[in-house]
Amino acid sequence: MIKIGDVRIKGKTVLAPMCAVSTLPYRILCKRHGAALVFSEMIDADVEQYGKYRFKKEFNTAEIERPVVAQIFGSNPKKIAESAEVMADMNADIVDINMGCPSIKLSRNNAGAILLKDQKLIADIISSAASTTSVPVTAKIRLGIDSSKDTVKIAKIIERAGASAITVHGRTMRAKYAGKADWDMIRKVKDAVGIPVIGNGDVFCAQDAKDMLDQTGCDLVMIGRGAIGNPFIFKQCEEYIKSGKIIPDPVAKEKYDAYRTLCDLMDIYKLIKPQLKDYKVNACWFTKGVSGGREARHEIGTCKTKEEVDAVFSRLCE
Ligand SMILES: Cc1cc2nc3c(=O)[nH]c(=O)nc-3n(C[C@H](O)[C@H](O)[C@H](O)COP(=O)(O)O)c2cc1C
Repeated sequence: MIKIGDVRIKGKTVLAPMCAVSTLPYRILCKRHGAALVFSEMIDADVEQYGKYRFKKEFNTAEIERPVVAQIFGSNPKKIAESAEVMADMNADIVDINMGCPSIKLSRNNAGAILLKDQKLIADIISSAASTTSVPVTAKIRLGIDSSKDTVKIAKIIERAGASAITVHGRTMRAKYAGKADWDMIRKVKDAVGIPVIGNGDVFCAQDAKDMLDQTGCDLVMIGRGAIGNPFIFKQCEEYIKSGKIIPDPVAKEKYDAYRTLCDLMDIYKLIKPQLKDYKVNACWFTKGVSGGREARHEIGTCKTKEEVDAVFSRLCE
């Protein structure tokens, strides 16, 4: 069993941090469907007013999703360390620092993937957070700004600075989502560091997850886009990795039931009261791959209430 610091991870699959996707309700759903570890969406650490009160509007956890990773982003080592400790106080089992987001909004503030150009700052951020936070600190990186020439060096810096694990998304910042993720570089990082490595990039089915583990030797497999509207992927991957057994893709009724469960979880756990658009977006994601889904999504776009969205989706099960 893999341990990140002293946190035991029972399984191989990880829900990626994804803005507006990896919310508490969705994390709970993925956990119920077999995810071994779940990441929160990224939370800003560099704001002037930090502390529990502000974070209460952006981050919450529940016992049933644990172990959970809170992901934070920023560029100021002191603020990151303080935010990390607040996250630990709010029941995050692990705190991850985002060094992989390519968005201009983050780059402008010297946060996310742009940090990969400043190895000294990377070391300062990790050591500041790891030395003051009571839970393990990890980092999620891309390969580099526009090449992978320093990926291994950066991974070693992160390890030496005190990180307990590292996630590698096998693309550069400039590549955004273009091309194929470079799993070879993930293997090179795995060969170079002693801490657990979470491989990330282009895992869309159980076979991909097994291939990623086999080809890179990584300890855990992180799934992003493949898990949007598709919590089923976790059990499929876990089972295939463990026994080679293939769990068939869910039928429409199973997807509908999972969507309904998510709606219930949203009503209970969402920090801001769910809006009609939240139901619509999720219904559109969950109807992907269902026969008649395209027409249904068109209709969902015109719905005026949550009940109408529900009715459109449920008709697909008939
Ligand atoms: C909608 C969306 C939101 C994302 N938000 C974050 C984020 O908050 N933090 C982060 O580190 N990565 C974020 N990512 C990147 C994913 O965590 C992951 O690294 C990337 O999608 C590659 O994995 P995949 O090929 O399995 O999708 C996001 C990706 C998507 C598609």
